[in-house]
Parts: sequence; C-alpha cells; structure tokens
Amino acid sequence: MKLSRRDLLKLGAGAGLTAAVGGLNRLHGQRPQQALQMKTIQSSGQQVPAIGIGCRNFRGGPDSKEIPVFRDTFETFHRLGGRVVDTSPNYGNSEEVIGRIMRELEIRDDLWLATKVDREDEASGVQRMDESFEKLGGDHFDLMQVHNLRGVEVQLETMKAWKEQGRFRHIGVTTSSARQYEALAEIMRRHDLDFVQVNFALGTRGSAETLLPLAEDRGIAVLVNLPFGRGRMFEAVGDRALPDWAADIDAQSWAQVFLKYVMAQPGTVIPIPGTTKPHHAEDNVGAAMGRLPDANLRREMERFIDPLMPERRGRRGRG
Ligand SMILES: NC(=O)c1ccc[n+]([C@@H]2O[C@H](COP(=O)([O-])OP(=O)(O)OC[C@H]3O[C@@H](n4cnc5c(N)ncnc54)[C@H](OP(=O)(O)O)[C@@H]3O)[C@@H](O)[C@H]2O)c1
Repeated sequence: MKLSRRDLLKLGAGAGLTAAVGGLNRLHGQRPQQALQMKTIQSSGQQVPAIGIGCRNFRGGPDSKEIPVFRDTFETFHRLGGRVVDTSPNYGNSEEVIGRIMRELEIRDDLWLATKVDREDEASGVQRMDESFEKLGGDHFDLMQVHNLRGVEVQLETMKAWKEQGRFRHIGVTTSSARQYEALAEIMRRHDLDFVQVNFALGTRGSAETLLPLAEDRGIAVLVNLPFGRGRMFEAVGDRALPDWAADIDAQSWAQVFLKYVMAQPGTVIPIPGTTKPHHAEDNVGAAMGRLPDANLRREMERFIDPLMPERRGRRGRG
C-alpha cells in the first residue's frame, strides 16, 4: 500500500518527524544522545533514520591496515543510531568487507541494508544478486537497486518477483549522472518503485528540478548519493568559518550544513554520505540531530554556496 502525501501529513511524517533510535543514550565524548530525525518510506510506512552511510570505499584485503578503521567507522555509525547502509557489488570488495564486519559485530539484523545489481541480462543479474546474498548474509535486503539503469527493464522484472517472495523489502533504481535524469524520470512514471537513488548536494542541485518533486508526487523515497559532491563541497568552502545561520540549524561542521540541506528537502530524502573514518561517521550522524533549514534558509544557503562552486555545470550536472 502506498501512503499518499495527505496520509503522510496526517502521520506527521516527512522532513520534520523525530523519534528516538535503538535505545542509545550516549554519544562519543559523553554528549547526551539526541533523537535522530526519522523519515517514513512512503510505500511501506517503515521509518528509518534520516542519515545513512555509503560504503563505496570500504575496500581491502583481510589483512590490510584499513580494515580495523572501516570496522570502527561502521561500529561508530551503528552505535550512534545509524541504520541505512548502501553498498554495491561493483565497489571493489565492499560487500565482502562489510559482510565480514557485520558478522563480527553481530549487527546484520539491526541494519537497513541496500545494495545493487549491475548486469544487462536476466541470468547474470540473478547470479549477481545471489552473490550479494552470499557476501552480505541474511535472507533479505531492505533495498535492491538497479545500478545506473543498467539492464533496468529486465532486472526490475526479477526484483519485483523477489520482492513478492520477501527477499527484497523495497526496490529502486540509481543514477549519479545528469545524462540519465530524463530516462530515470520516465522509469519512475512507468514502474512502481519504492526508491530512487540520485546525486544531489547544496552545490549540485540538478536533480531537484524534476526528479525530487516527481519522487515526492509518486510516493517514492530518495537516497541521495554524493551529498558532498565526492568531497568537492569541502573544497568549495575551504577553511571558511561557519556562517552565523549554521547555529540556527544546530550545525557544528560544514558536513552537517551540507547534510541538513539535503535532509530538509520536501519528501523522503535520505543522504548516504560516503566515509571511511570514525570521526566523520560521528559528524555525519550528528547532522540528523537538531533543527533543519526551512525554505527561506535553504535559499540563503544556495546563495552562499553558488559563487564558491567552480563552474555552473557543477551545480546542475554530475555530482
Ligand atoms: N550511481 C550510484 O549508484 C552511486 C554513485 C556514487 C555513489 N553512490 C553511493 O553514494 C555514496 C556516497 O558517495 P561518495 O562516497 O562517492 O561521495 P560523497 O559522500 O559525496 O563524499 C565522500 C567524501 O567525503 C569525505 N567525507 C565524508 N564525511 C566527511 C566529513 N564529515 N567531513 C569531511 N569529509 C567527509 C569522505 O572522506 P573519508 O572517507 O575520509 O571520510 C569522501 O572523500 C557512496 O559511498 C555510494 O554508496 C552511488
């Protein structure tokens, strides 16, 4: 059953809803744990925290020195209430790495896990998705996504069938390229999707022209990839101090400014910042605490960032 916008308003869901998460009561450094902002997935009514983590860079052999750091990052994210995890079979061995970390920490069932399929034909799509189950464990994924529209019609057929069988709770399609926006919009109109995943950032707002409003109208939830434009947002602001208005939204870092801007978009919009560092995971989860910018402040944030972005194309196109 899809929830209409009116149903969601009745439930008080969307950008402003908050709820306590997971019985956690302490942040790092003994700060009291605040409630994380929660978002409601329109198609299922399920609630998830308004911030996720992207695992594109969780890559390395079992003995590489990065693995303990990845593990700390994941543990920090989870301990502070983070649940939504995005990976893909084409992020090196990320699925294997986080599969192992989840087993060691025994948190697989506690997480809301999303991965992808990136094959053209039916048989290799099925094989790829079976391999994801082997690496990540468990008997279902919360979200399976067609990666960058690859083999989209064929893969969606399999994914719909597996959703019926309970192997996927939600299904969706991803892109991070403005060249695919039109094709994705067409798929969103034609198929019953639970999710799309698109690139969107304070300095890269092209997907807000059509895709985000279309998702809201169609009751499709959105995972936002590249909320930092692969780190380019940090380069744009350099070592500037936070503007005064950052205090009005309880933002204590540039990362929190960028993430709160994304989370505050109308509809169900959940950024999945990529990080491999525990202190960045803490910073990013912190963005889901406290106030979010209203429409007026969001305009002011855009006016602030636009002159700092290197070229106009960067604001509309690829993240
Ligand atoms: N088409 C697709 O389906 C698609 C395409 C691209 C990405 N994605 C998904 O989206 C996720 C996010 O994209 P992304 O990782 O490429 O780009 P991103 O989230 O825009 O930026 C990641 C960069 O920001 C840095 N960072 C993270 N938190 C920070 C903080 N609090 N302070 C300062 N720097 C911080 C990271 O460095 P550290 O690691 O050092 O923290 C990394 O260099 C991916 O992991 C993936 O899951 C999907």
